[in-house]
Amino acid sequence: MHTNDFATFFDLNSVRKDNVGCLSQFYIKDNYRQYGIGSVLFNMSIEWLRQFKDVEDYFIYVSNGNADALEFYTRKGFAVSHDILDGFIIVLRK
Ligand SMILES: CC(C)(COP(=O)(O)OP(=O)(O)OC[C@H]1O[C@@H](n2cnc3c(N)ncnc32)[C@H](O)[C@@H]1OP(=O)(O)O)[C@@H](O)C(=O)NCCC(=O)NCCS
Repeated sequence: MHTNDFATFFDLNSVRKDNVGCLSQFYIKDNYRQYGIGSVLFNMSIEWLRQFKDVEDYFIYVSNGNADALEFYTRKGFAVSHDILDGFIIVLRK
């Protein structure tokens, strides 16, 4: 059983392999949104993560209230897993 500070973030007890993938600090500058750039970079990030065969769990963090980002990742196939820091951060998982 894994117990460390990251357990809150990744819910490590439910992770079977040694490593997890995490997409974080992923921002497109305001005026450049809605042109498909986010989707291209998102797909490249996931493709890059896929080369690591010991990673089967992917996590993304979104601030509570960030409906656009939540919608974006939901459409990419991620689902809400749990929230952390008293609901301040929503954890998405695939
Ligand atoms: C979420 C985010 C990364 C998306 O980036 P983006 O470049 O705007 O993404 P895209 O343009 O690929 O797609 C955004 C939406 O625009 C739509 N879209 C894409 N090209 C389009 C076009 N030519 N015309 C109109 N709409 C278009 C897509 O269908 C998509 O809709 P969906 O989110 O409902 O699926 C960006 O909005 C962002 O940086 N948000 C703030 C960052 C943030 O809070 N990140 C959380 C921490 S990880």
